[in-house]
Amino acid sequence: MATNSTEHQTQTTSSGGVVVRELSKHYATPKGETLTVLDRVSLDVRPGEFVSIVGPSGCGKTTLLRILQGLEEHDGGEVLVDGQAPGKVATGFVFQKASLFPWRTVQRNVAFGLDLSVLKDTPNRPPGKDGSKERVAQLLQLTNLTEFADYYPSQISGGMQQRVNLARALAIQPSVLLMDEPFSALDAQTREKLQRDLQKVVSEIGTTTIFITHDIREAIFQADRVFVMASNPGRFVKVYEVDEKHPRGAEFQQSDRIAELSREIWGLLHAPKPEVPVAL
Ligand SMILES: Nc1ncnc2c1ncn2[C@@H]1O[C@H](COP(=O)(O)OP(=O)(O)O)[C@@H](O)[C@H]1O
Ligand SMILES: [Mg+2]
Repeated sequence: MATNSTEHQTQTTSSGGVVVRELSKHYATPKGETLTVLDRVSLDVRPGEFVSIVGPSGCGKTTLLRILQGLEEHDGGEVLVDGQAPGKVATGFVFQKASLFPWRTVQRNVAFGLDLSVLKDTPNRPPGKDGSKERVAQLLQLTNLTEFADYYPSQISGGMQQRVNLARALAIQPSVLLMDEPFSALDAQTREKLQRDLQKVVSEIGTTTIFITHDIREAIFQADRVFVMASNPGRFVKVYEVDEKHPRGAEFQQSDRIAELSREIWGLLHAPKPEVPVAL
């Protein structure tokens, strides 16, 4: 099941793909030393693929996502999101904290990005005349939020808030969906439910997704491939393929296959640091 990935050598710049080749990122420490956060990291995500990344705290996962969003510069290597430099294409983000607008209802939160793009592209067009209304309704339905469309964020649970966050991220039809520990603040039962909901939504819409989590089982459940990172410096040490069709449900979530693979990845993450970094 494990593969040593050499796929980064193939050009994948078609719609929705992500190419990260030999990416390096350094920070200056307060002592004036250089901290290598990412060391020649390579990752090639096919359009429509779901990739999970697991790794110890501080290994550079969030930094990698921020670079893909265009929020952070990188020092070396190449990064292409949907064939373009980061920040040039629409990306959807879902982070641990839902950060919804408290004064907007659920449906107005979901419509937020669409409102912005309508204002930007067609200043004189009244809202709702461009299919955005239908799109919001479709996403509310997909995320089981239709009956809560007129609620405010403070009136719904944390799990529902995170579903609104997901619907909002997808409303703009992003080339790539980036998720950084989106379910880690939720209780175990809600988390498992949202994992299944995410399966349904993403397989219906087919968005390329990069999903960061410290929950190994969650990483496996969602992903076509799980990339395992090590720290100091941050780098990929192994890639696992998860050959199971989408959408995946409760049966797969509780399966021995996930338990076994999870144990293997746990062992890898807790193994003594190899003297020579594993080259992918
Ligand atoms: N703006 C910054 N300035 C200096 N160091 C940073 C900055 N952002 C992150 N780091 C450091 O980079 C490393 C990786 O951080 P991060 O990407 O948040 O890791 P992860 O998400 O895997 O926990 C950590 O050692 C962190 O302290
Ligand atoms: Mg992080």
